[in-house]
Formats: sequence, structure tokens, C-alpha cells
Amino acid sequence: MTERASQRVLTGITTTGTPHLGNYVGAIRPAIKASLEPGVESFFFLADYHALIKCDDPDRIERSRLEIAATWLAAGLDTNRVTFYRQSDIPETPELTWLLTCVTAKGQMNRAHAYKAATDANLAAGEDIDANITMGLYSYPILMAADIVLFNAHRVPVGRDQVQHIEMARDVAQRFNHLFGRGKDIFVLPRAEIEEDVAMLPGLDGRKMSKSYDNTIPLFDGGAKALKEAVARIVTDSRLPGEAKDPDSSSLVTIYDAFASAEQKASMRADLRAGLGWGDAKQRVVELIESHVGPMRARYEDLMAHPEHVEDALMAGAAKARTIAQPLMHEVRQAVGLRKMVAVPGAKSSKAETTKQALPVFKQYREADGRFHFKFSAADGTLLLQGGGFTEGRESGQLIKRLKTEGIAALQGALVEVLAPLPQVEAALSALAAHDA
Ligand code: TRP
Repeated sequence: MTERASQRVLTGITTTGTPHLGNYVGAIRPAIKASLEPGVESFFFLADYHALIKCDDPDRIERSRLEIAATWLAAGLDTNRVTFYRQSDIPETPELTWLLTCVTAKGQMNRAHAYKAATDANLAAGEDIDANITMGLYSYPILMAADIVLFNAHRVPVGRDQVQHIEMARDVAQRFNHLFGRGKDIFVLPRAEIEEDVAMLPGLDGRKMSKSYDNTIPLFDGGAKALKEAVARIVTDSRLPGEAKDPDSSSLVTIYDAFASAEQKASMRADLRAGLGWGDAKQRVVELIESHVGPMRARYEDLMAHPEHVEDALMAGAAKARTIAQPLMHEVRQAVGLRKMVAVPGAKSSKAETTKQALPVFKQYREADGRFHFKFSAADGTLLLQGGGFTEGRESGQLIKRLKTEGIAALQGALVEVLAPLPQVEAALSALAAHDA
């Protein structure tokens, strides 16, 4: 493995759905922050090929890609520092996926969580084990492995549910290195990185904020009005204004904390203990979130109104990404034997100088008396036969031809002196015949 000054950090964002406040706090904001650390080279991409596994509605695919790209850009992603691209703009990714597929154990894919969950659900429902399961779902971890190793990423920040996939990527990369690396590592072995200290934002009902619980607060959708309405629906206890409240058992406070400074956190707590009403507290929450999200929303709306700017940014990102992917893929193709048809080791060569040293050789010459002679030498130069004395060059040529085709049988009655053991002569003649064949 070549040592690089910087560590490559790569992560994919599956482009399904519209980002909500929980995605921003739990994934987008920390990833952008991490990308600004010195000594890291970050790669963020829209995993739109992965999105196709879960979604066959072209309009939703299109919209989600745009919304997610615009969200990351509006949230402050710096495309000069980060390589930001779409998976589907990198043709090397599906190309590498196939080469990795050829070295991936089927049994290992049988154990992948997403596939296992689907087969378990089928069995529980009394269905065929593979009912409604596509090859896309089945091979999902191999596509993901290609995403990662194509850029020789060292670290892959992911949620817990993805750790197994990163381990599979590591395994596949290791197998590939072993099979084709010839002592050199073609791929870096990636490590999963779980963001332990990232805030997990509660939703309206206090459970984790998630689209599947239908408890989300929108990030940009619906503007300030929708934000205000969602915050109004956050569940609180029924204490009235003037009653002391427990800030530590309130998801409203947890959401506030995700945006608050230390001072703001402290005064919110003190005020709730002193009887601040939930309605007033919610007003503070809306104002605080809006102060962070408002400027981003303006950028987001501008990008959504100009998708061509998003397109340009992504195409520039793809070009940057491919300056890494193309040479690596070239190396990989070489390694597996998909090479240009030149200089193939072990095959016939048309270059005389390469055959000369390796093969026995007939040499014809003419003596001072005008007669034609020949010598036959082994590959190592040992003189094996010496013959001739023909008046016509043609006769010498014919005998050589017979020796080549008939072997030592042609020595019978010929004007030839045998200078080495016959088996040695025979071996040399057949080596020559095999070459000429
Ligand atoms: N499967 C990941 C998810 O659903 C997204 C993803 C695709 C990804 N390719 C990746 C994440 C490569 C990290 C690295 O979250």
C-alpha cells in the first residue's frame, strides 16, 4: 500500500426521499464539518445506482437526486475541497462492480443483512424465500464495494446498519489483491467509521426522527411556515405556563440543543425550570432553527430554481473523480488480463531475435568448393548435425525440410554426420517443428 499524506474519506448518500432536519443534524452537518479537517481528502457521492434498487419511479429518482445535491451544496459543502459527484457519472464503478462480482463468494452475499432481512420476511409470510428480490438487492454490497475501493478510500463513515457492507468491501478487496496483486496491493482495505458522538435527533413523537416513523421536521420543504407547524406538533407534557418543567426529559430541548450555543442551552434550561410555557419555548426553538436554516434555505431555493448549476457542479465533480478512477481501473484491467494484444507472454512472437536464442537452428552455407552444406545446432549452440556437399542449394533445403517434418527418420541414407546422441537431435527437431506448427 502506498502511503499518502492524507487519508481518503468516502461516503455515499442513497438518493431516495427528501432530507429532513434529522438527516441534516445527524449526517449532512457532521460530514461537511469533517471534510474541513486538515489531512483528509473527502469524497461524497449521490448513490443513485443504489437508489434504483429501492425505487422504480423515474420522477422520484430524478427529484430526489436534485433535492439531495442541492441540500448538500446549500448546507455549505465546499466543492473545491470535496470531490462531490454522482455514482452514475462514473462508468468505472459498474465496470469494477463486475470484476469484483467475479471474485465475490455467493455465500457471503447470502449473509448480507439487507438480503437476509428480505428473505426472512418472505419466509415469515410463507412466501418463496426469494420472492420479489432482485439481483440488484442481492448484489448491492458489491456495488458498494466498487464505490469504495475505486477511490482507495481508507475510511468510510456510515451508520451501524452499513458496517457489515464495509467489512464485505474489505474482504472483496483483500481477495482481489491476493488473486491479482502479484505481491502488490491494488486496493486499499477500507475501514468503517461509526460516528458515535453525533446527535441523534428525536422526531415529533420523541422516537428517532425518521421518515418511516412519519415524525420528521422538514429541513427546507414548505419554508419557515412548515418548520413552525412541525415544531408546534412536537409532543410535550401537559404542564402549564408558570409550572416548573424538566428540560432533560423533553425532546423539544434535545432538538433545541442541536442548534444552540452553550449559553443558549443553559438559559433555555433555566427558563423552563422557572416556568417558561411550552408555547413560548417552541417559539424560541423555531427562531433558533430558522436562524441556521433560513440562509441555507435561500441558497437551496436558488439551486432548485437553477438545476443547471447543480448539474454543472456534479459534472465537474465527476471529472475530478474520474482522474482517480480511470488510472486505477486501467491498472485493474491489466491485473485481471484485459490487456492490449501486444507482447503476450508465452505466445508466438514474430520477432526473429526473440526466437533465435530460444530455438534450435539450421544454418546453410556454401564452401569454397561451391558445394552446399548445413549445420543444425541446439538452442544452447551445441552442434548436432552437419551435412551436405550438395551441388544444388535446393537439395540442401529439401533435406532440411524433411528433417523438420519427418524428424530423425529423414537421416536414413542422407549425407549427414550425426554429432550428438540421437534423442537429443530428435528433441531439438521436434522443438523446432512445434514452433513452426
Ligand atoms: N448503502 C449506503 C446507505 O444506504 C449508501 C452507499 C452506497 C454508501 N455506496 C456507498 C455508503 C459507499 C458508503 C460507501 O447508506
